[in-house]
Amino acid sequence: MKICVTGTQGQVATALQELAVQAGIAVHCLGRPAFDLGQPDNAEAVLAALKPDVLISAAAYTAVDLAEGHAEEAYRVNAAGPAALARASGNLGIPILHLSTDYVFDGLKRTPYMESDITGPCSVYGASKLEGEYAVAAGNPCHVILRTAWVYSHSGKNFLRTMLRIAETNPVVRVVSDQFGCPTYATDIAAALIAIARQVVVKAAGDPAFGTFHMTGRGDTSWAGFAGAIFAMAAKGGHAAARVVPIATSDYPTPARRPENSRLDCGKLADVFGVELPHWHDGTERCLARLFQMSESLQGAAP
Ligand SMILES: NC(=O)c1ccc[n+]([C@@H]2O[C@H](COP(=O)([O-])OP(=O)(O)OC[C@H]3O[C@@H](n4cnc5c(N)ncnc54)[C@H](OP(=O)(O)O)[C@@H]3O)[C@@H](O)[C@H]2O)c1
Repeated sequence: MKICVTGTQGQVATALQELAVQAGIAVHCLGRPAFDLGQPDNAEAVLAALKPDVLISAAAYTAVDLAEGHAEEAYRVNAAGPAALARASGNLGIPILHLSTDYVFDGLKRTPYMESDITGPCSVYGASKLEGEYAVAAGNPCHVILRTAWVYSHSGKNFLRTMLRIAETNPVVRVVSDQFGCPTYATDIAAALIAIARQVVVKAAGDPAFGTFHMTGRGDTSWAGFAGAIFAMAAKGGHAAARVVPIATSDYPTPARRPENSRLDCGKLADVFGVELPHWHDGTERCLARLFQMSESLQGAAP
């Protein structure tokens, strides 16, 4: 199988490249400057030349707070770009797996969100990603839209790495405790994407495998709960840890509003694809083990 993925250096794209190598899958990354989602006029030419079996649309304008002041760019990258990718892949008969977000919801529901729940983004980022979902669905009948949440990894910019960095110099960290969701390890997303890709390559348009799905780790927690688990695991391994002081969202104002409830029901993904991501606790342990192993081998390599 040959996969094309957008977002060369992104958390998910990086994890996908790592896993694909192990699985003997050829991966071509589409990223700037050769491919710019903000100017995707060459999408069809690029895909026609590469001839992938599946296109994975993982790149996005992910700076949630910055997007509030840069709506035009966010919509260009998160909506117009995926629209062009979907049209191009649709014209060429290539199925597209497109990553989206829990931020398409307003977070006011008390229980986990189903795919059929009404959307209502409360940020520019969320609204631009929702527009991207509509465009992907309209552009290619062979689409799988996968909403995930709270993505972290051993590489890239993410909450887990920020917490570890803070703990190096601060004994205490204040973390929001009234937003709930499921931290999702990029490596687990990548493994799921490969499993889904293997299934969709043999499906025809109209198959129930195409549509919108929720895909996060199992279980849920708050950001404060996630931070507490990160530090407990780090301390167990003899690494720097901080004490978590839970705070309210109102104590930590940000330009973009976040949903209070980001929990996604992933039952449809399990039913249709037989894919279930591991528990967030398990992903966090594996991610930390990988990070600490990476920093030890870097120290070992120092002169
Ligand atoms: N991160 C999360 O917590 C989260 C939560 C829910 C859903 N998601 C969704 O999951 C997907 C993967 O997220 P991630 O965490 O892997 O993202 P990420 O680490 O922030 O990476 C985003 C990637 O998109 C690329 N990109 C941005 N603008 C581009 C453009 N104009 N042209 C080409 N590439 C561009 C970036 O390229 P550069 O390296 O060149 O900047 C980067 O490689 C995204 O669709 C995101 O919306 C993420």
